[in-house]
This record gives sequence, structure tokens and C-alpha cells, in this order.
Amino acid sequence: MDKVRVGILGFGTVGEGAYRMLMDNQAAIESKSGIGLEVVRIGVRDMDRERGAPRELFTRDLESIVRDPDIDIILELIGGLDPAESLIEAALSHGKHVVTANKELIAKQGHALMRRAASQGLDLHFEAAVGGGIPLIQPLKHQLAGNDVLKLMGIVNGTTNYILSKMTQEGRAFDEVLQEAQAAGYAEAEPSSDVDGFDAQYKLSILSSIAFGGEVRPEKIPTEGIRRIGARDIDFAKMLGYRIKLLAIAELLPEGILARVHPTMLPRQHPLANVHGVYNAVWVKGDFVGDVMLSGRGAGAFPTGSAVVGDIIDICRNIRIGGSASVQPPQEGLYVLSIDQLRTRYYMRLTVQDRPKVLGIIAGIFGEEEIGLRAMEMRELNDGLGEIVFLTHLCQEQNLQRAMARLAATEVVACVENWVRVEEESE
Ligand code: HSE
Repeated sequence: MDKVRVGILGFGTVGEGAYRMLMDNQAAIESKSGIGLEVVRIGVRDMDRERGAPRELFTRDLESIVRDPDIDIILELIGGLDPAESLIEAALSHGKHVVTANKELIAKQGHALMRRAASQGLDLHFEAAVGGGIPLIQPLKHQLAGNDVLKLMGIVNGTTNYILSKMTQEGRAFDEVLQEAQAAGYAEAEPSSDVDGFDAQYKLSILSSIAFGGEVRPEKIPTEGIRRIGARDIDFAKMLGYRIKLLAIAELLPEGILARVHPTMLPRQHPLANVHGVYNAVWVKGDFVGDVMLSGRGAGAFPTGSAVVGDIIDICRNIRIGGSASVQPPQEGLYVLSIDQLRTRYYMRLTVQDRPKVLGIIAGIFGEEEIGLRAMEMRELNDGLGEIVFLTHLCQEQNLQRAMARLAATEVVACVENWVRVEEESE
């Protein structure tokens, strides 16, 4: 074969970014792949829109692209489940390698699709599905694969990192910063997928399935977003030496894998605490390699296009040597633990009656639930109320939840205002 032919499904931000890179850097890409490369067809729904590629490449007939016997690689850049899933299945059944940026599809159906690709000796690559331009999937599949991954923590959603960074820098409230981010185009008009953590949940499902070598299904990942984080919590976090980030965390425990997405307080010297704005980063601890952190732009036409092109180059090299690099995913699911089994540290903020013995009653409840306290801040409020913030030692999530319910029911506590899990690991 002298040339690899590519068909693109979907020509939005990522499609245009990848196409532009293939055109601008064609000579270098071909020289590194060791083979010629040509985009021969682009499938879109709307043919009338002005696009950054020659008109004659475009068609509305996406099925004809996945069936075309002259096409070797399909780029699926439509997103969502339907029709992306059936188009990828059709592409594989017609013997084509596939590159996709589709996090929802890979999180929900990736294992079935990977098995199918591997059984046919085809590649199915999805580097662009997580972390935009940051190489994450390939390093986990290859360079780090000799390690047992012990823990993985990531900032994998740029929108929420932008919002939390602004709240931290400017002391402003969530709603206000969200509205501004929407007006500036950093956040979607319908922000739920980002701010409620689902985007990060899909990405963690993909990362942890690769890192731990088994399926970690998205619905098994307890997920909380950032809506409940207030300017006051960010203030207290700062005062206590922490920053609040939306983290996707997965760790290997003796009983199984514990994966979760939630706002997290990180010591300000932790490398992830210093990833600001729309940047993403993933920190991995391997048993032999130790700590690794990969960071960069987690979204956008060119960074995500760069990840797509990297996958294409990988497939071209495999085509040249007559093989594929798809790994048969393990058949067995991993045992995914419930969040009740989490043992970590916590921050809690209470509004209380400002009178004698209150602290004793609260301390009694913590003590009965086996929760040790390691720091405390108190402030007088108006109307006979006070505000207390606690940091706990390591304790069981179940005990913490029980303690909160008991505190909320105590007459001396006016309100459990908020609580946040704390990650101390920085070594
Ligand atoms: N909505 C995503 C983010 C885009 O904010 O990071 C990249 O997947």
C-alpha cells in the first residue's frame, strides 16, 4: 500500500482541527508515519455551511463513507451515542480502523467495541476522548503498562477548572462566574454535563479501565459536581492551605477499585492544585515509576485535533508493518467498590448556636463516630450564631455521613453548610 485513505464523520471543532493539522503538517506527518496520507471523504449533516476543506470532499451520506472500500481509517468525530455507535460498528465490520474522540461512547460501549476491533485485527483509538491534546491513553497503554497503577487523580474537565480557578482568584460566587463563562463561550449554555461532573465521570471511566486493566463502568462511579461549592468554602480552603478542584480519582485498594468524581480539597503544594483555568492534568502513581503528571490543554480544535492525528499516525505505522495495536480488553469486570468504603479526610462547615457547651456536644458526636479532628476555625456571626470549620483525620465515609446527619438533627447546630473530601497525598 502506498497511501492510507481517511474518511471523516463530523466536521465540527475537532474535525476541522484534525484536518487542518493533517494539511499543514502533511510532509512531516507522512515522513513520521512512513506512508502517504489522504483525506478522501468528509461526512456532515449540513452541506450549506462554509467549511475549512474543499467542497468536493463533503457528503451527507455518512454510511457510504464507512462502506467505501477505498477508505482505510474512519475518524468518528460526531459525538454522542447515535448514530456514532452504529457507524463505528459498520466501519469495523467493513474492515476499517477507527479513531474517535467520543468519550460518552467509549465510556459506555468501549469494551464491546475494543473486543470487536481486536478480534478483527483492527485498531480502535480514542486518545482525544480524554484530556484533549494531552497524551494519556497511549502512555497508560504502553509506556506505563508495566506498572500496577496504584492511584490516578485528574482534573479532566476544563470548564469546571476554569470556574473554580476564577472563584478562587476573584472570591466570586459560582452562579456569577458560570454566567460569565457562558457569555465568554467557556461554558455551554446547558452546563450540566460539565458542572455536575458527568463529563469527568465518562473520562474517569475510560482512564481507569485502561489504567487498571478492566471495565470500570461510568454508572459505578459516584459523581458530584461543583454547584454546591461556595465562595466561603473557597476562602476557608485558602486559609487552611488548600485549593478546591473537581477531581476524578481512582485507586487500587485490597478489595477492588474505588473510583469517584467530586470537588476535592488539595494541599496547595500538590501539583494538581497548581493547574489553573481551562488546563487539564492527570497524576498517576505506579508501583515502579512512582509519580507521573501529564498536563496540557484539555479541549479545543487544535489540541484535540493533535490527539486525533497522533492516533492516525499510530495506525499508519501499524498498517505499514501489517498489524494492529489493539489490545483485547480483559473479559472480567473489575470489582468496583462503593463510596461507603472510602477512607479519607474531610472538611466540614457548620453554622451553630453561639453559646456554652455547643462545642462539647459537637465534639461528642464526632467522637462517637470515631472521627478525629485535626484543625478547627471559629468565627462569630450575627444573631447569636457562630460558624465553625473542622478538618478531620482519616475516617470512614459512612461514619462521616452518619455524623453529619446527627449534627444536622442537633438543636445546637443551625445548619451543616457544606463538606468537602480532602486529599492529602502529595509525595
Ligand atoms: N466540556 C469539556 C471540558 C470539553 O470542559 O473539559 C472537553 O471534553
